[in-house]
Amino acid sequence: SQNILTDRFGRKHNYLRISLTERCNLRCSYCMPLEGVPLLPKNNLMNAEEIYAIAKLFVDEGVDKIRFTGGEPLLRKDFPEIIERLSVLPIKMSMTTNGITIDRHISLLKKYNLKTVNLSLDTLDAEKFKDITFRDYFQRVYDNILLLLNEDFQVKINVVLMKNVNDNEIIDFIKFTQNHNVIVRFIEFMPFDGNQWDREKTVSYDEIMNLVHQNFTAENIVRLQDEAHDTTRNFKINGFKGSFGIISTVTNPFCDTCNRIRLTANGQLKNCLFSATESDLLTPFRNHEDIKPLIKKAVLGKFAMRGGLSDEEFINPLEHVENRSMIRIGG
Ligand code: GTP
Ligand code: 5AD
Ligand code: SF4
Repeated sequence: SQNILTDRFGRKHNYLRISLTERCNLRCSYCMPLEGVPLLPKNNLMNAEEIYAIAKLFVDEGVDKIRFTGGEPLLRKDFPEIIERLSVLPIKMSMTTNGITIDRHISLLKKYNLKTVNLSLDTLDAEKFKDITFRDYFQRVYDNILLLLNEDFQVKINVVLMKNVNDNEIIDFIKFTQNHNVIVRFIEFMPFDGNQWDREKTVSYDEIMNLVHQNFTAENIVRLQDEAHDTTRNFKINGFKGSFGIISTVTNPFCDTCNRIRLTANGQLKNCLFSATESDLLTPFRNHEDIKPLIKKAVLGKFAMRGGLSDEEFINPLEHVENRSMIRIGG
């Protein structure tokens, strides 16, 4: 019989992203509405044991990579318990974090072999960091990136580009890769509930590459081989220690190779970042029902591209998109 994680288009979903919380210690406008999001009652969230048990069902069906997301996953008080429990599964674990408190978790992460970290940092300027995030944590995040590198973590820096906000720092970020072995990823600003998205604010793949070509000579810009299912097109400047890439969901989606599926903090399965529908797994799980048929149904309901939205619907989110705000999805 057909594997329950294979969809109508033959895509195998072996990569599960689990959001651990909808809370965050930053307030980035591209990620959440200005007024914030209402806090879920704790009992609505999966607890550590439930996260483990549900994750294990996915692993039994073929998931071999799990990423913890948020909100900010390190705000979960029981994060140590979650990572300890999941460490017995045959998976590669990783996380996406804002990096503010990661220095307190280094030995825990090492102990359970979570050594690849994607970290959000949208600017190299402390004042601008405050403007974007409404918090004054630039130095902590920056120092923590250096700490992670020192401790031999593999670090990707996520930079959400916005016109007239941080698009003038593209070359500075690439220069940061000269002496630091990081992967900087420029991300096209994407529409989500309440994030004031506007096509005009998005910096496109082509605009980024034009800038790169204005600043480096063609023979020094090396296109790297992409990994299977990579969201990113990767490049390197000859002689630089690190590399950089572009995530172009808006101008050039990569849905045909999608292997991702998402579990929200309150246990809803989301078959696509842009899916309008979700499947509640937590309630039936708590009622001791078999949730595998529900997982199968959700996977079979996945659309070919961007949650089934047409281009028109995708770029007019206020009129059409029924989705969560990014802080409640986890990317
Ligand atoms: P790895 O490839 O495992 O390193 O991680 P990632 O790039 O998938 O995850 P990360 O959480 O660092 O996300 C970086 C950016 O990619 C964010 O803007 C995400 O929203 C976006 N992204 C992650 N997964 C998907 C996806 O399935 N579809 C789309 N369109 N964008 C995604
Ligand atoms: N568009 C694109 N990427 C986003 N992220 C958060 N909000 C958006 C958005 N509106 C990215 C952040 C974070 C990752 C999980 O998602 O860079 O690192
Ligand atoms: Fe997969 Fe949806 Fe992202 Fe496309 S938009 S890559 S289908 S999660």
